[in-house]
Amino acid sequence: MSKLKFQFTTLLAIVLLFTACNKAETSFTIQSPDENISVEFALSNSGEPMYLVKHKNKMVIDTSLMSFDFKDLPALKDSFKVLRSATGTFDENWDMPWGEQLTVRNNYNELIVNLEEQSGSKRQLNIHFKIYNDGLGFRYEFPEQPNLKDVLITDENTEFNLTGDHKVWWIPGDWDIYEHLYNETKFSEIDALSKRNHENLAATYIPENAVNTPVTMKTDDGLYLSFHEADLTDYAGMTLKVDTANLNMVSELVGSDRLGGKAKLTVPFNTPWRTIQIAEKAGDLIESKMTLNLNDPNEIGDVNYFTPMKYVGIWWEMHIGKSTWDMEGSQDMNTWTEGKAATSTHGATTENAKKYIDFASQNGIKGLLVEGWNTGWDKWLAEADAREGIFDFMTPYADYNFDEVSAYAKQKGVEIIMHHETSAAPLTYEKQMEEAYNFMKANNMNSVKTGYVGEIIPKGEYHHGQWMVNHYHKVLVEAAKKKIAVNAHEPIKATGKRRTYPNAIAREGLRGQEFNAWATDGGNPPNHLPTVAFTRMLSGPIDFTPGAFNIKFDEYKKGNQVNTTLAHQLALYVVIYSPIQMACDLPEHYMVDGNVHPAFQFITDVGVDWQQTKVLDGEVGDFVTIARQERETGNWFVGGITDENKRTETIKFDFLEEGKTYKGKLYKDGENAHWNDNPQAYIIEELELTKDSKLDIELAPGGGFAISIMQ
Ligand code: NOJ
Ligand code: CA
Repeated sequence: MSKLKFQFTTLLAIVLLFTACNKAETSFTIQSPDENISVEFALSNSGEPMYLVKHKNKMVIDTSLMSFDFKDLPALKDSFKVLRSATGTFDENWDMPWGEQLTVRNNYNELIVNLEEQSGSKRQLNIHFKIYNDGLGFRYEFPEQPNLKDVLITDENTEFNLTGDHKVWWIPGDWDIYEHLYNETKFSEIDALSKRNHENLAATYIPENAVNTPVTMKTDDGLYLSFHEADLTDYAGMTLKVDTANLNMVSELVGSDRLGGKAKLTVPFNTPWRTIQIAEKAGDLIESKMTLNLNDPNEIGDVNYFTPMKYVGIWWEMHIGKSTWDMEGSQDMNTWTEGKAATSTHGATTENAKKYIDFASQNGIKGLLVEGWNTGWDKWLAEADAREGIFDFMTPYADYNFDEVSAYAKQKGVEIIMHHETSAAPLTYEKQMEEAYNFMKANNMNSVKTGYVGEIIPKGEYHHGQWMVNHYHKVLVEAAKKKIAVNAHEPIKATGKRRTYPNAIAREGLRGQEFNAWATDGGNPPNHLPTVAFTRMLSGPIDFTPGAFNIKFDEYKKGNQVNTTLAHQLALYVVIYSPIQMACDLPEHYMVDGNVHPAFQFITDVGVDWQQTKVLDGEVGDFVTIARQERETGNWFVGGITDENKRTETIKFDFLEEGKTYKGKLYKDGENAHWNDNPQAYIIEELELTKDSKLDIELAPGGGFAISIMQ
């Protein structure tokens, strides 16, 4: 490594000379608009492309190489010379159809370097950098050229050479699932292989000591870095292989056994952007919109068929074992984790759906998700060869009168959300998609939750490989044609494609609330969401499904519980961003003595579509406080959560308008609240607030708070 560094420095010296002589450059420096971040790109003595990144003149990524290996072709890695280069500046504002904020500024400086091999078949490669004030992205662009046509990439080797043994919040580089707990370790202590074969994961494959992205780090100097990718299209998802001895990461694409490689492409093509967010404050990571900016503008036009909304669902009751997805009573999450719940009955009945519709319409909740409405659920967890063709997405169970439920929902002003569990059989889904979407539209349904539980059929494909990336993409494209919005579970990670396809409303792609219902490892610990906010959430909206009020649900499951307080659950409506937010608990769990629980008022009131977002405070893995202003109403909502440690948060309300007095309502942990010992204790207080107000709020261990400030 030190040898390379030396070469780099020498090259820089030469460049200065060359520039002075007006000769072609071989080394370039490009800065962010505010000049805090600079990226240097150069060719080594043997013509290898390499880059380094500095923040305020301090190295954050040391000299790192970039190359490709192919099947049956020589590697693309050295003997390059620079043919041409171009720089530019870009600054525009664009509006999000729905989102964390209305207007996004897209401001960067860019550099494109056109390279050509000096030996062999003189292949060409362009490397394109965009440097923002909050980080950078770069991608490889393979231009049309005479000597390169079809390629099977066996490895992309993009290095990220770290400058220290940073603190890292990571999940393993699983090719099939992101539903792992985050680990907080030094970089040198990352051990992804120890996370293999988690018993609650229906599909998991961790081939190397690698991490998935976004992966967030903190340097000894207190700088935050987060590595991810943007615009993952027709390519394999990227994990980052970890070299704990040399503090180096290198891209490790998710493979395909059928392909015998990573990604099959025809020139010309572009790879996804490799991104590095850089922030001095942890909260700035969350406010960054760089990943979105690196995607193309909206290509599907208006998506006003989708309204951001809260929803309830025939869902949690299956996860906690009160009922089953299937009518036969044979296969459910309980079978999977701890043996069949013998007394369970089918959840998706006409009568039960009407009960949820009544609750929704009485409490200002717009949507209802019904899982287990269609036949096939007795086989959904079967072995791979028995899972193809089990669902048709059209045929309701005998005790679910689809028309009657639809008519009742319409009458009550509730919109039913469709559920398509594919059981990881994407070919079946692709065959039925058009008919299934037509059926939805004929029944006034505008959004679908999809699911891909299990190992992908055909065997040899993985959830995060190129083949599935293309499947998830196809779903978005076909759904958009029918004016349908998609919330994918067991998805490919979010990479900002919601900018181009704003019908990609939310996704799972993390350990969701459901793990609290049945995980054999005790569920999600209190620090889970204070970590998720600075890791998974940087990639995009999360269908986490918050809102558990009956924290222990002992009536159904003695061995599981939600590991937060009730007030923490309320805070999640603000902290965890999604344009659809579930109130996950059973209607009866939201009732006290025949009345709706007083704290449910917050869920009724809270916005789901935002004018602006401000991260007020936070530290990765410890706590986070976010304020969001609702579009149209101008109402503000504040949410704060903490890990297993109690803490006092001081909130300054300087985001409010000058000269105005607001009425606020605070929902916080009760005096002796504790995520395990006393999770449901809460206090509601009325507040009078101005721009100058300051409030100290006590958060219990595993606790949180939520504030509504309504005009
Ligand atoms: C896993 C999803 O994450 C969950 O929300 C859903 O209930 C089940 N699959 C069944 O589709
Ligand atoms: Ca899941």
